[in-house]
Amino acid sequence: MSKPRVLSGIQPTNGSFHLGNYLGAVKQWVELQESHDAFYCVVDLHALTSAPDPKELRENTLVSVAQLLALGVDPEHCTLFVQSHVVAHNQLGWVMECLTGFGEASRMTQFKDKSQKVGNERIGVGVFTYPMLMAADILLYQADQVPVGEDQRQHIELTRDLATRFNSTYGKTFTLPEGFIVKEGAKIYDLQEPTAKMSKSAESLSGLIEILDTPEANAKKIKSAVTDTGREVRFDSTEKPGISNLLTIFSTLSGRSIAEIENDFVGKGYGDFKGAVAEVVVEYLRPVRTRTLELLDDPTHLNLILRTGAEKAGMVASKTLAEVYERIGLVARG
Ligand code: TRP
Repeated sequence: MSKPRVLSGIQPTNGSFHLGNYLGAVKQWVELQESHDAFYCVVDLHALTSAPDPKELRENTLVSVAQLLALGVDPEHCTLFVQSHVVAHNQLGWVMECLTGFGEASRMTQFKDKSQKVGNERIGVGVFTYPMLMAADILLYQADQVPVGEDQRQHIELTRDLATRFNSTYGKTFTLPEGFIVKEGAKIYDLQEPTAKMSKSAESLSGLIEILDTPEANAKKIKSAVTDTGREVRFDSTEKPGISNLLTIFSTLSGRSIAEIENDFVGKGYGDFKGAVAEVVVEYLRPVRTRTLELLDDPTHLNLILRTGAEKAGMVASKTLAEVYERIGLVARG
């Protein structure tokens, strides 16, 4: 039997991924590429909705690709590509827009939140149609599963609704995808504010571990992480959110259980513990950073990987698109 297919996308909005991106998403991508037929894309068209600086967008797209590769996404075991390289995304996106109700799209929380913040005059139509483009990303590849974070649940629901609507109107064309929502355990919090998710939009960067930051800077951030009162190294996310977050990071990166780590630190203080966490993080990220920089130093190699990825993705995507065009009544080009 053939392997189930997964598709996921990541926005190239930031230069460096942070530990939360890695443990929440990319690590899962790396695991899934072995058991699944995996398609991963850097969604540069989606990033346009936040009007990035052109030079930064181009750079960040390549930095994102290099980081994915350095973190273990392997083009021999998956299809890795840049969204704008496969034009069928825009083409199916339009079909999805024609299938979506205005009210339905207006109810998407991401659009609602942003339009409330900046107002109807300033919000771009791209933010409004963002979910339909994302539905196209997924449906073009007939994905069975879509690994995403909790915040993407509504987008997956809309994708399923659109697929069902299309299939019942025009005949079965799309696989109904399922969200593969990353578990709570993989959630990483801000080092300075351990009840808030680790995020680039935090007020201060001192709680953020960036993959491409220097080992020294990251070690320093971990050593100055907020801890809790008391002195026991014990997992308790209500009473000890700071220590629990560090335990999650330690455990996930070292592959050792939380209980085992707690045991090691019986009778020792927070200082020793933080030193050990810093070492695990730094040693884990050091080769990733080096490898990313090496990859960025060789644009010919990087371009070749992306060209191969776009060719593989394009073949699958254009097959789906041709079927869709035929079903909805567009005349085939002779
Ligand atoms: N909206 C997703 C995010 O912000 C990114 C994304 C775009 C995506 N297209 C996708 C994720 C397709 C999964 C599948 O995280």
